[in-house]
Amino acid sequence: MGLAMNGRPGMRAVVTGAAGFIGSTLAERLVAGGHDVVGVDCLTPYYDVVAKRSNLDGLLDSAGFTFVDADLRDCDVEGLLEGADVVFHLAGQPGVRLSWADGFGDYAGHNILATQRLLEAAKRRWVKRVVYASSSSVYGNAPSYPTAENASLRPHSPYGVTKLAAEHLCTLYADNWGLSTVSLRYFTVYGPRQRPDMAMHRLIAAALSGQPFPLFGNGQQVRDFTFVDDVARATMLAGTTDVPAGSVLNIAGGSSTTMVDLIQEVASACERPLEVRVTPAQPGDVERTGGSTALALELLGWRPLTDLSAGIARQVEWHRTRMASDTLIRTA
Ligand SMILES: NC(=O)c1ccc[n+]([C@@H]2O[C@H](COP(=O)([O-])OP(=O)(O)OC[C@H]3O[C@@H](n4cnc5c(N)ncnc54)[C@H](O)[C@@H]3O)[C@@H](O)[C@H]2O)c1
Repeated sequence: MGLAMNGRPGMRAVVTGAAGFIGSTLAERLVAGGHDVVGVDCLTPYYDVVAKRSNLDGLLDSAGFTFVDADLRDCDVEGLLEGADVVFHLAGQPGVRLSWADGFGDYAGHNILATQRLLEAAKRRWVKRVVYASSSSVYGNAPSYPTAENASLRPHSPYGVTKLAAEHLCTLYADNWGLSTVSLRYFTVYGPRQRPDMAMHRLIAAALSGQPFPLFGNGQQVRDFTFVDDVARATMLAGTTDVPAGSVLNIAGGSSTTMVDLIQEVASACERPLEVRVTPAQPGDVERTGGSTALALELLGWRPLTDLSAGIARQVEWHRTRMASDTLIRTA
């Protein structure tokens, strides 16, 4: 596609979900790479809005960044995409556990309807590429590991159903309208700014504060953890590399680990013992995730570079810095 990735003038990118964990990291990397970024987010209350605002701290003063507080479910999306070369669509309602029962409406709206509105606007605006943040949750309990993209898709949670529906919307806009979409199936992303509902975040917070960690299930669940910098790099590559419209790729860290082993890793990185309280397994949680990244290597030249212990060390450092600044604020 020939969009410059080094030095201005770069591309004009729209990042949805720019106040979130991965979206804010991606927006920072894009701005640092010389690109103009419009960050869109409606700061949903899924977790503390103060944390989302602080994710934007480094960006709001950057010359290449503009923030728009807008909800993709009902805003003028075409207006947002004016002049955009690439849209990175990371906005969404994440997490498995709240997607049951009455929670489903939010998931359908933020994940399916918002994506359809965005794709329609991207089609009308002749956007060159739409990169969609899909999820390993589309596989459910996969038939084999490492799971390749052509494995059967049988989500195990309502969240996974909405992520898969939006992925199908991306491929059907590619097939019917030639819109150049790429869906990236992220596998459990971790690192600085990780969402507070995610296991790694809760684990490190528990270790550093000396609180017990509520473990869901027997600890034998396996997750393929992917460091956020690796995810941001893959996402940028997906925005600029020539790949077939409608491509779907796994983005996985290659570090499949049981929760029991993860608890030990985190305790040793924090140099603190961890008290674990076993609680019932949660409906919607799969037993195991593990993604093949052969296709991402072939099409994007991407492979994960950060191993689990280095990544955990980076996230622990982030938690420590945040705790220290919270203490300073409280004692000021
Ligand atoms: N974190 C992971 O491990 C993971 C794994 C697989 C897929 N994903 C997907 O990646 C994306 C980013 O995840 P995250 O962990 O950074 O989550 P996050 O909650 O930190 O970020 C999502 C952001 O989207 C915003 N948003 C939600 N609905 C919106 C709407 N209608 N209009 C505008 N903004 C809206 C939220 O306010 C939030 O800031 C999500 O789509 C998620 O489903 C994440």
